Amino acid sequence: MTMPTTLVTGGSSASGIAVARALAAAGHAVYTVGSDDVRIKAAALEAGGGVTPLVCDLASLDSVRELADTLRDLGVAQVDGVIHLVGGWRSAQGVEDQSDEDWDSLEEGAITTLRNVSRVFYGQLEASPQGRLAMVSSTSVTSPTAGIASYVAAKAAAEAWTLAVADGFRNAQSANTENPVEQHSAAVIFVVKSLVDETLRREHPERRFPGYTDVEELAAAAVGLFEEPAANLNGQRLLLAK
Ligand SMILES: NC(=O)c1ccc[n+]([C@@H]2O[C@H](COP(=O)([O-])OP(=O)(O)OC[C@H]3O[C@@H](n4cnc5c(N)ncnc54)[C@H](OP(=O)(O)O)[C@@H]3O)[C@@H](O)[C@H]2O)c1
Repeated sequence: MTMPTTLVTGGSSASGIAVARALAAAGHAVYTVGSDDVRIKAAALEAGGGVTPLVCDLASLDSVRELADTLRDLGVAQVDGVIHLVGGWRSAQGVEDQSDEDWDSLEEGAITTLRNVSRVFYGQLEASPQGRLAMVSSTSVTSPTAGIASYVAAKAAAEAWTLAVADGFRNAQSANTENPVEQHSAAVIFVVKSLVDETLRREHPERRFPGYTDVEELAAAAVGLFEEPAANLNGQRLLLAK
């Protein structure tokens, strides 16, 4: 099997750098995507060789379509994996002060970017012999608190969207009953409580970060998606929180 071509969408943060680096080390051709030219180039540089930075506002469907065109111009005929890392986080005191501004931001970051990326690359991921879509959700979706009502609602919507993509993959790959094909594409949800990286640990040497997931563990889980049969993964909610 040829090595996958994988997009890390929302790759500018510590998690994006770790995921891009790990995928490249595992032999993937990695394209890391962010909205800001300077930040995504710096992230690609930090991730090391084999990681190509691309700029795209993933909240704009037209821009994501242009991203697909750019990849085609770069000779990428097939995207095999999308590790989607755009999310955002907002909190308030309780239910009454959940602001529209916060909701709009979360809707755009957590839901719209995922919808755009998965709509535009769905066909390629479904056609790939090892198609993988992953997004990162939160343990708080199943134990919501009032102060993060908008956040958990947005993440729950993003999870539901991902499960719908998984259903699409399942249906497409089991449709031909005369010539059944093995499930080869999978959409999954990684579940974390919070992410931690080396910089955060260094800045807060006194803190223990209980239940946190190190970005290196998230990165290893992203690589692992391509080593596990799609049938075992598709539609799964994979708990990475300890
Ligand atoms: N951090 C945590 O503790 C935690 C906890 C639970 C779940 N999660 C989830 O884990 C994932 C990764 O979290 P994170 O904190 O590393 O990432 P994040 O800060 O939510 O987003 C990652 C990157 O996405 C880029 N981005 C934002 N809007 C964009 C857009 N419109 N187009 C393109 N890129 C855009 C940002 O970089 P630019 O602005 O430079 O483009 C940002 O650095 C997210 O889905 C998050 O919700 C995180």
